[in-house]
Amino acid sequence: MEGLNGNQEEKSAAVQSGRSVLQRVRALLGDQLADVEAQLLQLSDLQPDELRNAVGMIVGSGGKRIRPIMVLLVTGMLGTAERSRAINLASAVEMLQTATLVHDDLIDGSLVRRGAQTLNAVWTPAATVLTGDYLFAYASNLASRVDSVRVMSIFSDTLGVIVGGELRQMFTDWGLRSTRDDYFRRIYAKTASLYVLASTTAGVISGADDAQFRALLDYGRDFGIAFQIVDDVLDFTGEQATVGKPVGSDLRRGMITLPTIIYAESHADDARLECALRGKCTPHQYDELIADIRNSDAIERSLVEARTITESAKRALELFPASEWRALLCDLADYNVRREL
Ligand code: IPE
Ligand code: IPE
Ligand code: MG
Ligand code: MG
Repeated sequence: MEGLNGNQEEKSAAVQSGRSVLQRVRALLGDQLADVEAQLLQLSDLQPDELRNAVGMIVGSGGKRIRPIMVLLVTGMLGTAERSRAINLASAVEMLQTATLVHDDLIDGSLVRRGAQTLNAVWTPAATVLTGDYLFAYASNLASRVDSVRVMSIFSDTLGVIVGGELRQMFTDWGLRSTRDDYFRRIYAKTASLYVLASTTAGVISGADDAQFRALLDYGRDFGIAFQIVDDVLDFTGEQATVGKPVGSDLRRGMITLPTIIYAESHADDARLECALRGKCTPHQYDELIADIRNSDAIERSLVEARTITESAKRALELFPASEWRALLCDLADYNVRREL
């Protein structure tokens, strides 16, 4: 089959449109995405009022909605899933993402998300944990409406992988945490697994065969790995006003990500790295080290890795016939490595 990069029709569609990928996605999926939003905000029965208001605020605060978009583009590409199942699945995946963010911000002590105060900034840890739990329950409920044991099984496995990954990260020795192997295992668990959930379950409800399922798994995994590398780069290079969440905080929290790993590979004698790995630098040392990493080639080299992995994600889709949906799945992967938010 012809390589995607060589497919001029798909390329020119992207270039000619002159609109951002997300706008083109919205034009293609508009009413389905609107149904997902409505589904996410169906909270009228939710009690107490505090919970309903908090959930409404978090869910309504935006977010790029990349995971539900992936579900809907894959079901569009395969073309056989029942519409309501696709909407329920897309909503379930986004609700799971929202739940993990509520707990992640509490764990990370982050006070801003999507440009707004996080729940943990205004509520006690107990109320925040319970609201996150509620969102996990809500996500499972939405997933159960898809009415597929296989989807439920992938869904629960994914939640296990995410939580297991977070725990492993906490208990990993600082020396190991600085290795590439550990980094890629970690970002698969915490981020790529959710993209694999989105891509593969969309395949399940579309009757994907084994080869198609495998291709969707590869696409979701590589997309998700590249996604987290970009998130980790933005933690060094982004502005809070643009990304809508605190930046420059990973290293200060002892979180070793690809830019730091690449920087360390060529600055093995930089004494600040060891105190950063141990989470024991002074605030001034962190400021300096973060600035040095930001100004080093470790940023561009991290992005080169993300772009290479993105090419592999796009190649996985070559199994499927060319279509507007397939082109958008490729463009979404390219958008991911160019984004500033
Ligand atoms: C944030 O995900 C969590 C990570 C995996 C880095 P997104 O950047 O997709 O967050 P929203 O949903 O758009 O806010
Ligand atoms: C995302 O990792 C992890 C999960 C959502 C489980 P980050 O901690 O880097 O995400 P942000 O930067 O807070 O969005
Ligand atoms: Mg975080
Ligand atoms: Mg981050």
